Amino acid sequence: MKTLVILISGRGSNMQALLEAGLPINRAVVISNNPDAEGLKIAESLGARALCINHRDFQDRETFDTALATEINRHQPNLIALAGFMRILSHDFVQQYQGRLINIHPSLLPAYPGLHTHRHALQEGVKIHGCTVHFVTATVDHGPIVIQAAVPVMPDDTSQALANRVLQAEHRIYPQAVRWFLQDQLRLSGQVVTVSRATTHDSVIYSPGLQN
Ligand code: GRF
Repeated sequence: MKTLVILISGRGSNMQALLEAGLPINRAVVISNNPDAEGLKIAESLGARALCINHRDFQDRETFDTALATEINRHQPNLIALAGFMRILSHDFVQQYQGRLINIHPSLLPAYPGLHTHRHALQEGVKIHGCTVHFVTATVDHGPIVIQAAVPVMPDDTSQALANRVLQAEHRIYPQAVRWFLQDQLRLSGQVVTVSRATTHDSVIYSPGLQN
């Protein structure tokens, strides 16, 4: 019996990608801190248990995190996946789920931790941008990296256009990372994650493309 808990705050497109991926789970529980999250309805329509723990009902981060942990623990999940969950979690919360708490971030970490990653990438003029799935540690957006995907930055990109391109890649790598975890293919050693039986390839991404 494998259970996946997914934490969301809004749209929930990564959650949807996880729920539609045919992962080796018996049960998915989606928890939002925001009662208006569109993802809650999508989760229900896909047969997941969907519920809200509104952070506004709690006086501080610690009491919210305690209530959230109590709910999570009721479901005894194998893995907790943050999918656009917009609350910073307390040290104690992260500690308690060390090694089974995972996140998707819309940049090639360690570049651009935090918010507005696409805007920063455009401002810096990088030619390759992307997304990262990583284990969550107490330092925000710095945990051990499981998988990354790179996409080209186009000369006429807006933040939104770049975000859309990255999001397509997010929907590919997040289910892959979760599948590896559930199939026990991930080994953590310090900051380094090794994926057993993963394919490797040596292709190079050029952006802009090479010309003779
Ligand atoms: C994604 O870009 C994810 O990487 C970031 O927040 C966004 C959430 O989008 N952490 P969605 O709710 O999954 O559609």
